[in-house]
Amino acid sequence: MSADEQKLDTADPTNIVIFGATGDLTRRKLMPALLRMLSCGLVHEDSCIHGVVHNRSETEWLQMIRDGFNLFSPKLSVDDGVWNQFSSHLKMIDGDLGDERTYKNIAESLQLLGGKKNVMFYCAIPPDWYGTVAKGLYQAGLVNEEEGYRRLVIEKPFGSDLESASALDNELQAVFDEEQIYRIDHYLGKESVQNLLVYRFANSIMEPLWNRNYIDHIQITASETIGIEYRAKYYENAGALRDMIQSHLMQLMTLVAMEPPVEFTADAVRDEKMKVLRAIRRFEPEQIKLHTVSAQYASGCVDGEDIAAYVSEENVSPDSATETFAGVKFYIDNWRWQGVPFILWTGKRLKSRVSEVMIRFRKPPFNLFDNHASIPAANALAFRLQPEGGVVIRLNAKKPGLTTDNEELVMRAPYADDVEKVSDAYEILMHDVLVGDSTLFSRGDEVEESWSIVEPILKAWEGRFSIERYRAGTWDIPAMDELTKDCVGGWHKPTVYE
Ligand SMILES: NC(=O)c1ccc[n+]([C@@H]2O[C@H](COP(=O)([O-])OP(=O)(O)OC[C@H]3O[C@@H](n4cnc5c(N)ncnc54)[C@H](OP(=O)(O)O)[C@@H]3O)[C@@H](O)[C@H]2O)c1
Repeated sequence: MSADEQKLDTADPTNIVIFGATGDLTRRKLMPALLRMLSCGLVHEDSCIHGVVHNRSETEWLQMIRDGFNLFSPKLSVDDGVWNQFSSHLKMIDGDLGDERTYKNIAESLQLLGGKKNVMFYCAIPPDWYGTVAKGLYQAGLVNEEEGYRRLVIEKPFGSDLESASALDNELQAVFDEEQIYRIDHYLGKESVQNLLVYRFANSIMEPLWNRNYIDHIQITASETIGIEYRAKYYENAGALRDMIQSHLMQLMTLVAMEPPVEFTADAVRDEKMKVLRAIRRFEPEQIKLHTVSAQYASGCVDGEDIAAYVSEENVSPDSATETFAGVKFYIDNWRWQGVPFILWTGKRLKSRVSEVMIRFRKPPFNLFDNHASIPAANALAFRLQPEGGVVIRLNAKKPGLTTDNEELVMRAPYADDVEKVSDAYEILMHDVLVGDSTLFSRGDEVEESWSIVEPILKAWEGRFSIERYRAGTWDIPAMDELTKDCVGGWHKPTVYE
């Protein structure tokens, strides 16, 4: 958020307690977001950031955070002045997550701060620790909200299947009320994702078209050129379906498909999203093959760089059958969407890096123009989420000259002229936690419902010994063409500039 922004929306002074204060997420995302938020007043200047750290001195921790700015956020130009200002808010609490004394230390540290009673607890730690942390906070008397709010932030993944997600919810809800729990899906914090709601509900031209009468199908895409990077251990057990479809892409699907909420409040929006999830058709075991695609990248070339096969990556089993590409054709059984396929697909090491929601309209019912004219293409409206947010509309227009033939006109409208003005997802989401707005966070029932939808697919894929391969840097996945063969225009393989 730009520093010249008005200080209108400042939350009250707060204590921000970060578990995992030496980790990648903290250094790469949380600290830079907090620095920017402090500098423009979105975090109150009297706030304190406590880092829970084990195995390191305070000097070492502070150095790690400062090095993190240089490494991950060089644009912030954290010189001595900026650092001294920011680090005056930092305070280390020594302790292991498994040690109950850690939570007593936190309670003591918070008491020393006198008047500042609000606390946001941010779990930037491996998910197996979430339950332990919640219990530790409860036992140290840190959950009760009599003296100020107590909000717990957890990061995805929220479980790895329905059973583990329910078990996690039970553990957290035994200690915190649902209203105190903020489940972060950082995808939902992207301005371009929030903009989906504005495009839909602040423009009256959308609603008349937004249904089965005009829309042929919808493709929701997260296509990546990167591989699994340092996440092999997690990814081997997760795969693309768990990592992207069950969470990010299904959340996008609910925003695209939901009815207008009665008001823009957390529960009104989440109630509508929940109705979409409940209306998604469940697959019988014999339908899975027809409605899903899974594949894994083999060696190839991405952006001119030679890429090794997934199975050759460090910490990946040479006979791994984990999917690095997943596609699912869902149907929503309600009045608005009956019969309209929603194709959610994602993959690593593909040809281009693009995330978008593409609405493909039906073909014109009749070609009015003469026999020599090309058949007009079906219109498409794409909401581009990354690399740069914006809208792309494909219309048919007359070719210039003495002809009635037509050609496709592609209109592109970037969301922001100045990308520097676009806020980072973590700034938006942390600010929402501070002001108590949970609209952009997943509710427990949404998470469990989406797990229940993908559960039959996970079961069908469990324990398989082989998987289709695609060459890295290509769209060479024939099963996706097959999955989309009845959709107008087929599989839409997006390029960066379209
Ligand atoms: N990194 C991202 O960009 C990203 C994006 C989305 C979601 N997430 C989620 O965010 C969470 C954190 O991810 P990460 O990438 O930051 O992981 P990470 O780099 O492995 O960091 C984990 C942190 O937890 C600390 N920790 C682990 N065991 C501890 C213990 N017993 N006592 C005290 N501290 C302990 C680690 O400290 P030591 O290293 O000192 O042990 C480290 O600070 C995960 O749930 C992940 O799925 C991360």
